[in-house]
Amino acid sequence: MIPPAVPAALHPLVAAFLTDRDGVRAALRRYGSPLHLVFPQVFTANLAALRAVLDAGGVRHRICYAHKVNRSVTFVRTAEQAGISVDVASAQELRSALDAGFRGDRIEVTGPKGAAVLGAALTAGATVNVDNLWELDTLAELAPPGRAVQVLLRVSGFLGSSPSRFGIDLADITTAMDLLVRHRDRLRLSGFAFHLDTAATTERVNAVGDCLELIERAYEHGLAPTVLDIGGGLRQVFTADAAGYDAYDHALRAGLLGRGPAMHWGNNTFGYHVAEGMVHGGPVFHKYANTEPAAAILAELLAAPLPGHGGRALGTVLTDNLLELWLEPGKAMVDHAGITVAQVEFVKQAGNGATLVHLDLSRDTVTAADQEVLIDPIVLGDNARSDPAGVYFAGRLCLERDLITQRQVRVERLPSPGDPVVFANTAAYHMDLSAAQASMHPVPMKVAVLQRDNQFAVCPDADYRPGDQ
Ligand SMILES: Cc1ncc(COP(=O)(O)O)c(C=O)c1O
Repeated sequence: MIPPAVPAALHPLVAAFLTDRDGVRAALRRYGSPLHLVFPQVFTANLAALRAVLDAGGVRHRICYAHKVNRSVTFVRTAEQAGISVDVASAQELRSALDAGFRGDRIEVTGPKGAAVLGAALTAGATVNVDNLWELDTLAELAPPGRAVQVLLRVSGFLGSSPSRFGIDLADITTAMDLLVRHRDRLRLSGFAFHLDTAATTERVNAVGDCLELIERAYEHGLAPTVLDIGGGLRQVFTADAAGYDAYDHALRAGLLGRGPAMHWGNNTFGYHVAEGMVHGGPVFHKYANTEPAAAILAELLAAPLPGHGGRALGTVLTDNLLELWLEPGKAMVDHAGITVAQVEFVKQAGNGATLVHLDLSRDTVTAADQEVLIDPIVLGDNARSDPAGVYFAGRLCLERDLITQRQVRVERLPSPGDPVVFANTAAYHMDLSAAQASMHPVPMKVAVLQRDNQFAVCPDADYRPGDQ
């Protein structure tokens, strides 16, 4: 059986770039294969979509681009040029933001921080999104008196949310407020923050409700917070065909049960639990099923009725209370704004009858953590023939587990050596969380692609200047 196709959603600009096969091959010749390509104009379009939702809701806001999603210089420069803020989670990201032109008043430092990062944040004059009571204490020690550092308290422990290792538990917030009151000459509470890695609006609404209560309590303590920071977590859309995704998932599960041809390699069950003739649980690739764009998720959140506030919409409650909404989108900013291109080395048959398409790439260059990407790579091969097949894409490391797809993928024909293979939508975390230097392979180069007058120009990521747009 030929597996069902799970086609990738592509931004029209990226799709246009890929139609120029010679241009793609030229980029590979010039910068090497595999190659990461980032598209700043798609980043700008994603930002515009989020801004449009916030403006339509009349919500005062600040968007802090979560730098951790991609180390690209192009993206951070584009964010700076667009006038938004940046969320940095390490001393190196802070340096990168400063180098891109951000000043401290547009930088927020998030994540767990040691003394060195706290010191660097103070020097830069950035807002510190405090993860724990030790940080708050240390900041009070390090901050010079008379020039109070702006802090957000990151809160966790919301009812109905999974336990988190980040943030200050709701039960400890009073201790934090007492500390803020004691050190008001050094620490100024801007507001409360959270980050939930969930698609569930109800969970965020619940967290917002708790934070609004904290804001009231802070006022009772004589503090004057004005910010509610809802972190990141807005989803991406990977698939162009939700029905294709479902059909694949169905075929995969049938294969796991032995009621259809096996789509999986070896004993891999992708997080499913197979028992008593049934497939239980959820798959590791569930995020690839999402069909709701980030802007729609944000609009849904702003319109959600807030319990305890007469059912008024969340956005209205924020506006009525003169609060500023801060967001830290990472994935949503780079959705569709990056691809990774590799090349076919050769095609072979394995002993179990599987067809392996070997690439000059390893799995962890395009796959975040232990997830399986349930989106088909795109082969830019000979278009003339059609002879569909099911193949596994294999990586270049001498490790059994370096199968780029642990599942059979439909290709329209068997590729040939040298054919470019495109992994769509890799800009969010996939590109940079890799340990791909094994076997002395160099880290793939990153380049920026710009469309001007219907022509594409490619330059090294570090050389990109937003004025070029
Ligand atoms: C505190 C914080 N803010 C923002 C983000 C960005 O999240 P996303 O890429 O899901 O938008 C993260 C991601 O880990 C985070 O930890």
